[in-house]
Amino acid sequence: MHITMIGGGYVGLVSGACLAAFGANVTIIERDTQRLDCLQAGQVPLYEPGLEALITQQQQAGRLTFTQDLAPALRDSQAVFIAVGTPTRRGSGHADLSYVYAAARMIAAHAPDNLLVVTKSTVPVGTGRQVAHILRTTRPDLTFHIASNPEFLREGHAINDFMQPDRVIIGLEDEAQTASHARTLLEALYAPLHTPQNRLIFMGIESAELTKYAANAFLAMKVTFANEMADLCEATGGHIADVTRGMGLDPRIGPAFLTPGPGYGGSCFPKDTQALATSARQAGAPTQLIETTIAANEARKRRLAERIIALAGHNITHYTIAVLGLSFKAHTDDIRQAPALTILPLLHEAGATLRVYDPQAMNAARPLLPHDISYARNALHAAEGADMLLILTEWPEFAALSPADIAPTMKGRLIVDYRQIWHQNDWQKAGFNYHGLGYKMAEEPR
Ligand code: UDX
Repeated sequence: MHITMIGGGYVGLVSGACLAAFGANVTIIERDTQRLDCLQAGQVPLYEPGLEALITQQQQAGRLTFTQDLAPALRDSQAVFIAVGTPTRRGSGHADLSYVYAAARMIAAHAPDNLLVVTKSTVPVGTGRQVAHILRTTRPDLTFHIASNPEFLREGHAINDFMQPDRVIIGLEDEAQTASHARTLLEALYAPLHTPQNRLIFMGIESAELTKYAANAFLAMKVTFANEMADLCEATGGHIADVTRGMGLDPRIGPAFLTPGPGYGGSCFPKDTQALATSARQAGAPTQLIETTIAANEARKRRLAERIIALAGHNITHYTIAVLGLSFKAHTDDIRQAPALTILPLLHEAGATLRVYDPQAMNAARPLLPHDISYARNALHAAEGADMLLILTEWPEFAALSPADIAPTMKGRLIVDYRQIWHQNDWQKAGFNYHGLGYKMAEEPR
C-alpha cells in the first residue's frame, strides 16, 4: 500500500517510519527545505530514541522517502495522513488549525479518486468534518473517504508506543459505504497489530477526536491530583509515595501518572487541555475539572519557585543554584512548557546565579531563558561551587549520581529534588539538607 504523510514533524516522522516498518510504502511531505535536506540525508532533526535508526533502515529498504512535492506522491497513494502541527493560537486557548486546513486544500487540489484522508494531528472535535467540507466544496466531483486516527505517542517512547499500542483509535464517517472502505484500508495498514488481540477500536469521527483530548486531559488531571496530594502530605505528615501506592493498587485508579513533580509540561498536555477547555466552553458544555487543572498546574510552577527562594532566604542574591534538567521530562530535548521555563526566570529575577545542565535540551532552552544564565558541560560541572542543587528533570544520568560524587564539588549542602530521583536518607546521611516533594521535611529520613 502507498501512503502519503503530510508533515515531517514529530508525529509524521514516527508514524511514517513505523507504518513503513509495518510494510507500507510511505512518502513524507516536508515543505521546509533545510529540514527536508536533513531527512533525505538520513539525519533526524529532533531527539527521539531509535527514530534515526528506524528511518535509515526504512529508507534503505526503499519503503520511506521524503519530498516536497505532494502531487506525484498523492497520485499513487491510497491514503494520505495529515500530521501537521496544531499549536495553541496566540491569545486564545484555540488550536490553530491553519496548517490542517491548508493541507486539506492541497489534498483537494491533487487527490486521486477514492483517496482516504486521515487526520493524525491532534485536532478539536469537528475538524474531521471540516476537512471533508473543504474537500467536498473544492472538488465536488471527487470521491473520497475521511477518518480520524489520533496519536497517543509519548516523547521518548514513541517507537515502542506506536509498535505496541494499548489501542489504535479510528474514527469513521457514519455513511456505511465510506466507512467500510476506510475501515478495510486502515485494517490492512495496521495489520501487524491485529494479532494476538485486536487493538483497533472503531468509532465515529467526533468520538475519536474527543478521545484524544479526553485521554490527555485526564492524565494531566491525574498528575495534578498527585501534585495536590503531595502538598497535602507535606502539610499534614503523610508520605505521598505511600498514599499513591495505596491508591494505585486499586485497579480502578492504577499506579501510573501519580508521581508528583514540578508540574506537567510538554507539547501535548498544556496545549490539549487548553484546546479541550476552549472547545467545551464554545460548545456550551464547559469542563470545570480541566479549567481547574490548567490553573492549578500554572500555579504549581510559580509556587515551587517561591519555595526555592524561601529556602535560600535573604541569601538568594548570593546564591548559586545548580539546575539539573531543563526538558519537560527525561529522554527528550523538548522544552515546550517545561517547568524550568517558569521556575528559572523567577529564581533569576529574585537574584540567584544559575548554572544549568541538561543532556539534550540546552540549545532549545537558551533563547528562552535569561541571557546571563551559565550552561555547564555536565552535571558535576554545574554543581561546582553551588550552594543549592535543584533537580527539574529525571534524567537517568542524574539519578546515577551519589552524594560522594556531589559532595566534593558543591559548596553548599542543599538539595532540592523535584523529581524524586534520589533517596532522602542517602543524602541526609552524607550531611546534605534534602528537600523532596510529598512529605513533611522535618520527618525522619526514610
Ligand atoms: C503525553 C501522553 O502521555 C501521550 O499519550 C500523548 O500522545 C502526548 O502527551 P508526553 O507529552 O510525551 O505524552 O509526556 P508524558 O510522558 O505523558 O508526560 C507528560 C507530563 O506529565 C510531563 O511533564 C511529565 O513530567 C509529567 N508527569 C507524568 C508527572 O509529573 N508525573 C507523572 O506521574 C507522569
